[in-house]
Amino acid sequence: MALVDIESFQGRLASLRDATLADIAAASDPATLDEVGVRVLGRKGELRSLMGGIGSLPAAERPRVGALANPVREAIEAALAERGAVLGSAALDRRLAEEAQDVTLPGRMPWVGGLHPIRETEAEIARILGQFGFVVVESPEVETDELNFEALNIPPDHPARDLWDTIYVADPASTQQAPHAPRWLLRTHTSPGQIRAMRAASPPIRILTPGRCYRYEAVDASHGFEFFQVEGLMIDERTSMGTLRGLLDALAHALFGAGRPTRFRPGYYPFTEPSVAFDIQCVVCDGTGCPACGRSGWMTILGAGMVHPVVLANGGIDPERYQGFAFGMGTDRITMLRYAIGDIRAFLANDLRFLERSRP
Ligand code: PHE
Repeated sequence: MALVDIESFQGRLASLRDATLADIAAASDPATLDEVGVRVLGRKGELRSLMGGIGSLPAAERPRVGALANPVREAIEAALAERGAVLGSAALDRRLAEEAQDVTLPGRMPWVGGLHPIRETEAEIARILGQFGFVVVESPEVETDELNFEALNIPPDHPARDLWDTIYVADPASTQQAPHAPRWLLRTHTSPGQIRAMRAASPPIRILTPGRCYRYEAVDASHGFEFFQVEGLMIDERTSMGTLRGLLDALAHALFGAGRPTRFRPGYYPFTEPSVAFDIQCVVCDGTGCPACGRSGWMTILGAGMVHPVVLANGGIDPERYQGFAFGMGTDRITMLRYAIGDIRAFLANDLRFLERSRP
């Protein structure tokens, strides 16, 4: 090979180097860069095939030509390494950015259930009256006519039954109604729990029976055919209307705030004598009169009275020795007042948005 050939060889080396360096600079990811490296420096690469011509040179010139190729190879290797480092760290940066987790974000709270607002009010009433020694006992929803009415001094033809009409059910034990078999019904109030408690224990008695009741009602925003009550009964040797009033004041103040005025109004129930309605000053208007309290400034939250001697006797308790009081409150109504709920039907509609929001 003549000198001219060496020069042209040099020229071809230089253009291979420049083209390769340009390709390296243009490579935008590690895979493309690898391809450039293999294409030019690989075993069957462009540099080697260019150098293949070296064999045709005179032996004396081969080292010179080889020496020309080495800096080209080195320049390309250096450029590959440098670009590789840049692309590698850029790829890492990108991955880090994509996979980044913001550990300062608050975690997602797991959804937990809670008490139904009615159950919560029951629990609160039990907590307050528990401080006065009252304990919760259960009493069935399917009751006998005897305990729901007769033992409570409401004989079959008593007009008070009109207020407490309900659904009668077949004897759960048999399909045959024997002439003197008990008549079963869905209880219209929790008061039969009084008789059950008196028959199950001897005085002193302080019990609460919370639960579901049923009545024949035209359903509207303040009446349900299915509703809740909490019954209270205290029997001892020296209970009086004064004890009752003090206890109910404590309950009203715990539920509706310490200063809330209360009052007794005369009332009538066949199973208490005397009987009262217990009112709190309207929690909406504070007594000035508004639609919520029928412009009276007062709201009735329960019925109460001294247990009738006939009822004590029906419960197996000596009315000459013991006396006591009973009260029954509408759990729905109290819950509506506590949480400003406008429609009693919301309690049994099972709308989770309501059940979540009505909690304090
Ligand atoms: N049982 C009565 C009712 O449902 C309430 C009440 C209970 C009244 C206890 C007096 C004593 O209306």
